[in-house]
Amino acid sequence: MVIINFKTKDGQVISTEGRKGSLMELARDNNVKGIDGDCGGVCSCATCHIYVAPEDTDKFPTASDIEKDMLEFEDNTTEHSRLACQLEINESLNNITLTVANE
Ligand code: FES
Repeated sequence: MVIINFKTKDGQVISTEGRKGSLMELARDNNVKGIDGDCGGVCSCATCHIYVAPEDTDKFPTASDIEKDMLEFEDNTTEHSRLACQLEINESLNNITLTVANE
C-alpha cells in the first residue's frame, strides 16, 4: 500500500491508501474535496487539478500535450500543476502530499 496525502483548499490533509489506479480515482474514492473527476479520467475536464511540490516533480512523468492543453483552460494553473487522472499510483509516491487546486 502507498500512502498519499491530499491537502484541500480549506487546509485539511486527507490521508489515503492506494495500490493501483490513478491519483484522481484514489482522491475521488476517498471523497477528497476539490477532486471531482467529472470526465472519468480521460483528460477532458480538469476537475482533478493538483499541485505537485517542486521537490516531488521528478517522481512523475512529464505531462503529455493533451494534459498541458487541458491545464491551459484553468485560471489557477502554475508550473506545478498536474491533472491527477494522468498520474498513476506507484511506490515512489509513498507519503507524498499533493495540494488540491480547486475548492
Ligand atoms: S478527471 Fe477529467 S481531466 Fe482528470
